[in-house]
Amino acid sequence: MADTLRPTKVEINLKKLSYNLNVIKNEIGSRKIMAVVKANAYGHGLVEISKHFEKEGVDYLGVAFIEEALVLRKARIKTPILVLGGLDNEQIDMFLENDITITGSSIEKLKTISTRAKKLNKVAKVHLKVDTGMGRIGVQWDRVRPFFKAAFQLPNINIEGIFSHFVSSSSDLKLTRIQLERFNRALKVLDSYVDKDKLIIHLSNSGGVANQIKDAYFDMVRSGLSLYGYSPISEFQEKLKPIMTFKTKVSYFKVLEKGSTVGYDAKYITKERTRIVTLPVGYADGYARSLSNKGKVIIRDKEYPLAGRICMDQCMVDIGSKGEAYNGDDVLLWGNDGKNNIDLWEVSKLADRSIYDILCSISQRVPRVYISYFY
Ligand SMILES: Cc1ncc(COP(=O)(O)O)c(C=O)c1O
Repeated sequence: MADTLRPTKVEINLKKLSYNLNVIKNEIGSRKIMAVVKANAYGHGLVEISKHFEKEGVDYLGVAFIEEALVLRKARIKTPILVLGGLDNEQIDMFLENDITITGSSIEKLKTISTRAKKLNKVAKVHLKVDTGMGRIGVQWDRVRPFFKAAFQLPNINIEGIFSHFVSSSSDLKLTRIQLERFNRALKVLDSYVDKDKLIIHLSNSGGVANQIKDAYFDMVRSGLSLYGYSPISEFQEKLKPIMTFKTKVSYFKVLEKGSTVGYDAKYITKERTRIVTLPVGYADGYARSLSNKGKVIIRDKEYPLAGRICMDQCMVDIGSKGEAYNGDDVLLWGNDGKNNIDLWEVSKLADRSIYDILCSISQRVPRVYISYFY
């Protein structure tokens, strides 16, 4: 898609990204940081964001799939990359050939990794995954002994790290503590097989850092959401700067008589003679359809409500009988444009969707424009 020509765009502020990175670094001290850039860097653009993190000297990049890691290697990114997701055995060679770190999540997978690595005369870099409550990939915390034994015996495998993942580190500190205890129990078993000081141990995500669960920081933290400027913990949110601003421009203006229908299924009927503007942004861009008849936008410093169902590519706004808007006027959908602000947490509440979900849903056809100055 020809980028800056489209009036609908997300503006990504790299200066604020660096700022957030420093907030987290200040919290974790000398420990390593993995910047989680999966899902197109939470919608912010995989390559550009990762390049910026590399320039900033982050220790690791975290992605979900090998395909994301390969995009980064093709873009000449040299920073170590851990694929956090489950391993497809068919893809092991790609990890080995591109120096990408594998999540080792079962004895069977470790055996296959070892066999492939031996065949290619390579040594696979692996981080072991322990499940402490997520019920996702990884070996249960109380069944790790044979897993660890295999990991440190199998040839052509270099166990570089070990990790687990929190279920609800922002909202359920009791469960988070239980997970931490389980992880520590698993780490005790590790003592029989390796000197732990030689491993990168990691557990905490954004929520763990926001809640300052310091004994969960270990050697590295994996941060995603907070790097992009959001935290559900209000004290931590105050320290961060959201880096994304979603904008468009007015594409049409009309006056509708009282009782006119607006949008599919006529879910909005004008209560008076009013001015309706159309915006060239819809749910196929990632402007959540659940904001229909609920969301708000800002035009010429004034907030106005969405009118009717958000369409695939367009949506309508009721600016009232006296509202002023002209074709080509800037429209703020969310974020901060230097003058006005629409808080993404409010958008998330209105849309009844998580911030993760909203950010990741911004589609490929929306150009990402990168800026590097504070406002
Ligand atoms: C394994 C793992 N680590 C870290 C993260 C980053 O989490 P957050 O964005 O909450 O910091 C994720 C995100 O889902 C993850 O799956």
